Amino acid sequence: MRDLLIAGNWKMNGSSAMSAELVDGILAGMPAAAGIRMLVCPPFPYLALVAGKVAGTRLMLGAQTVSEHESGAFTGEVSVSMLQDNGCRYVIVGHSERRSLLGESSDVVAAKFGAARSAGLVPILCVGETLDDREAGRTEAVIAEQLGAVVDAHGATAFRDAVIAYEPVWAIGTGRTATPDQAQAVHAYIRGTLAALDASVAKAVQILYGGSVKGDNAAALFAMRDIDGGLIGGASLKAADFLAIAQGAVAARN
Ligand code: PGA
Repeated sequence: MRDLLIAGNWKMNGSSAMSAELVDGILAGMPAAAGIRMLVCPPFPYLALVAGKVAGTRLMLGAQTVSEHESGAFTGEVSVSMLQDNGCRYVIVGHSERRSLLGESSDVVAAKFGAARSAGLVPILCVGETLDDREAGRTEAVIAEQLGAVVDAHGATAFRDAVIAYEPVWAIGTGRTATPDQAQAVHAYIRGTLAALDASVAKAVQILYGGSVKGDNAAALFAMRDIDGGLIGGASLKAADFLAIAQGAVAARN
């Protein structure tokens, strides 16, 4: 059985004080259950502070994006080795906000995925359709394109030890969650697409659901066969809310 991963994407929120308080709160209430992992992805300036707090604990650290380049004249960018130097094990790539607001193409996202993967940082590849896509029946085509860019660049084996997050854009920050059946259908499509290329990779890859996950809908989502945890935005900013989602994971496993 795959482990469940509960990942918090803090986005551009917080301060030093808030980061410290939030991590202390999560550490104080983290479930000890086997098979449930927890991860926080703070903004870059707070990575070192959070790394200090999570060292020696089961709470893991990740970043929200990374440069596809190793080093050099890329003002404002942060490299894979800098993230590793600051205690990160994971990095989110291709979040829909970066695709839509910052113009990241699937090819750029694939390059970031490859840079992370080849250095041993676990990429969390975000994929997901807009409401227009869904209503036009284009959900699978959009996912196929986003996933396909990574497969074309790095092969299906690149998903060994990687994570995928299915985040329907219409569910992000809207309070409108995909139903467990709607999410499961897309997760099964993603796993099936990979299975056609590499069955063992498809079986092992964690596929998270993201989009308005809360304490009261988490257990039903995580109980679905192909949903292996969640990528949480708004509800990851308060320890009690994030921990309620972790309890949903515990319930889904029992
Ligand atoms: P949300 O965000 O939980 O606030 O909907 C999820 C995400 O964007 O990763």
